[in-house]
Amino acid sequence: MDHLKVDVNKVVNEFDNRAENLRDENAVLDARDNPKVAHQNVFRNYHTKKTVIKYLKPTLTDVVLDFGCGVGRLSNHIAPLVKKVFGADKSTKMLKIASEINSSNKNVSYQHFNSYPLPFENKSFSKIFTYWVLQHVDNNELKDTFRDFYRILQDNGMVYLFEQVRSNESVVLDNIHHQRKREEYHELMKAAGFRFIQAERVFRYPSYSLSIWSKYSGTSKFILALLSRLELITANRKPDHIIYSTDVLIYKKL
Ligand SMILES: C[S@@+](CC[C@H](N)C(=O)[O-])C[C@H]1O[C@@H](n2cnc3c(N)ncnc32)[C@H](O)[C@@H]1O
Repeated sequence: MDHLKVDVNKVVNEFDNRAENLRDENAVLDARDNPKVAHQNVFRNYHTKKTVIKYLKPTLTDVVLDFGCGVGRLSNHIAPLVKKVFGADKSTKMLKIASEINSSNKNVSYQHFNSYPLPFENKSFSKIFTYWVLQHVDNNELKDTFRDFYRILQDNGMVYLFEQVRSNESVVLDNIHHQRKREEYHELMKAAGFRFIQAERVFRYPSYSLSIWSKYSGTSKFILALLSRLELITANRKPDHIIYSTDVLIYKKL
């Protein structure tokens, strides 16, 4: 049954290799190293940053955990909008790149961890988010992750899970990706003590916006902004054509 399970060592090796070979934000997006994919990643990067700000609504009093921070692209992006950001990750090589490329924001700290409990005090954070991380965490570890999120989050604190999900079935691919159904996250978060607040689809595969962007060779910020809006508007169109989507699942600690 090994083929049906995420393998933590394989995952960490994979991300260590991606960090070492690509050394930038491409390591945490589509990591196939070719110019066409790198161009598509410009849109993925723009859109994910937009959606994090839209849903996280960062404020200058927030202390935020970016769980599975990779090369720190999102920690770094929200840093000017919050009091403090901690990025945590299991890949030392990702964190090395994060420290090298994001050294200008003094309110960002990176923390490696291997096991639970996470190296943070009780009630340290007002908000915790994860972007494309939990699909790499196996079911048993995920229970520890959510239990520890509850411990390190302040009362009334919020958790934002941005994750690739499937509508009809839960699928494990290559011992590295587990695309679950929304309901599986709801159940595990509820068991850890969280209240479900909201779920939205923010990105879909296949995507109208990404296919338009792929045919365009420029890097205009205006076109990126337009296509990012279009992605949010069309994310729920023709649900039968969607293989998987990135949804934001929002929970609160009461
Ligand atoms: C696709 S990247 C996303 C990085 C970042 N969230 C972003 O969007 O830029 C996935 C990250 O999750 C990390 N990761 C994988 N398994 C993990 C685990 N069990 N616990 C914490 N982080 C993990 C990887 O090392 C990698 O940096």
